[in-house]
Amino acid sequence: MAASDQRRHPLFLLFFVLSVLLSVCNCCIQLPSCNCTMVGSSKRQRGRKIDCSQHPAPFKTLVGKSFPPDTVHLNLAHNALVALRQGSFIHFSSLQKLNLSSNQITIIEPGAFDGLKSLKKLDLSNNLIGTINSSMFSGLPNLEKLFFSNNRISTIPDGTFNYLPSLKRIELQSNYLRCDCHLKWILKWIKTRHVRIPSSTTCALPAKMRNKPLSKLKRRDLHCDHSVQLLTFNIRPSESQLVFKGDKLPFECHASYMPGDMSIAWFRSGHLVTTNKTMGVFVHTSHNLDRTIIIHRLVVESLDTTHAGEWSCVVSTSSGNLTKTVHVEVRMPDVVLQCPTVTNKTSKGMFTWEESISGLLGSQLRGEAADLCALGT
Ligand SMILES: *[C@@H]1O[C@H](CO)[C@@H](O)[C@H](O)[C@H]1NC(C)=O
Ligand SMILES: *[C@@H]1O[C@H](CO)[C@@H](O)[C@H](O)[C@H]1NC(C)=O
Ligand SMILES: *[C@@H]1O[C@H](CO)[C@@H](O)[C@H](O)[C@H]1NC(C)=O
Ligand SMILES: *[C@@H]1O[C@H](CO)[C@@H](O)[C@H](O)[C@H]1NC(C)=O
Ligand SMILES: *[C@@H]1O[C@H](CO)[C@@H](O)[C@H](O)[C@H]1NC(C)=O
Ligand SMILES: *[C@@H]1O[C@H](CO)[C@@H](O)[C@H](O)[C@H]1NC(C)=O
Repeated sequence: MAASDQRRHPLFLLFFVLSVLLSVCNCCIQLPSCNCTMVGSSKRQRGRKIDCSQHPAPFKTLVGKSFPPDTVHLNLAHNALVALRQGSFIHFSSLQKLNLSSNQITIIEPGAFDGLKSLKKLDLSNNLIGTINSSMFSGLPNLEKLFFSNNRISTIPDGTFNYLPSLKRIELQSNYLRCDCHLKWILKWIKTRHVRIPSSTTCALPAKMRNKPLSKLKRRDLHCDHSVQLLTFNIRPSESQLVFKGDKLPFECHASYMPGDMSIAWFRSGHLVTTNKTMGVFVHTSHNLDRTIIIHRLVVESLDTTHAGEWSCVVSTSSGNLTKTVHVEVRMPDVVLQCPTVTNKTSKGMFTWEESISGLLGSQLRGEAADLCALGT
């Protein structure tokens, strides 16, 4: 039979189709929507390259996903992973490149990368990681390149990279990086360990240091004598409030976490506010999932006229205090002014106001309400 006839033979076609199918799918029978190819020439070096970065249904977890143990490159970029649990990669002793960029990773448990003894490149950029420390980088004796840009870390504790003896390069670019005394150690460390931090890794805060490459700074540039600056500091509600007696008034204060001696508190007319159940006042401090923001809540269950005044959230640090204040005006619902009424919709619902005071903020009202109404009639 001539070669061309042979190619048309039905058995050959079947064999051809099967072998194409096998070469694409053989490694990923459990992961049909990941691309998989064999790489490496000699039998000893052969391994799989698995690309799940264009997965039609992004992975939310790695639990229950079984990747073949001889995977050498694993690309999980552009998935929806939130947490990396301890021992997630424990069977991947051949893995050399792991790409976890552009997920929603917030939590990396201590020991998450244990077992990755051949890993050279780890890409964690474009995630939501708020804090890092040494325990999340254990088990990576051969890691050379760590990509960590565009996360939410504001600082890096001394010793974070102590378990990475082969490290040569780290990228840490982000809009959160605070170049102050807490990063002083890193300049000495990159010198003694010959680690490169490219000049794309720049400072975000304090304002004076913005856009300066971290690796080009001098030790004396990294101090904590700057006046206090926070990336996030706001209160809700932020505008003066006109409220009724008996209303419930919840306040929220959000402030970026700063390493060191930071504290946050509510004050009313200069006095510290603490939880007082008999008064129906509750104060509670928590933080967001990635621990980058402290949330300080205050709820007054039932307002009365004694709650009128200035309510302030104060962040105190050794380099100064920051304050945000909102003014509260408490109105008695049964006060009748000689004004026609209009209905107005506010964030607290529908209220009926005397015409001349509708739309005015509480701070403008004090003592003026009667005059305004008199003018209106
Ligand atoms: C697999 O690769 C092909 C061609 O390179 C591409 O068109 C396809 O989107 C990839 N699929 C996945 C799931 O990555
Ligand atoms: C990780 O994957 C993303 C998206 O596919 C790519 O842009 C990036 O260069 C990869 N990272 C590394 C270190 O190869
Ligand atoms: C690192 O942070 C994790 C939680 O974010 C914590 O459980 C662990 O104890 C920390 N390790 C060190 C060495 O500080
Ligand atoms: C709560 O407030 C009342 C009235 O101001 C006061 O007498 C009481 O001691 C306070 N209780 C606490 C636990 O602070
Ligand atoms: C900052 O606040 C703390 C506690 O709230 C207070 O003791 C300190 O005097 C304040 N410092 C300044 C400069 O206002
Ligand atoms: C309701 O109040 C807002 C300001 O808070 C004002 O701009 C608006 O005109 C008011 N609407 C009516 C119907 O008075």
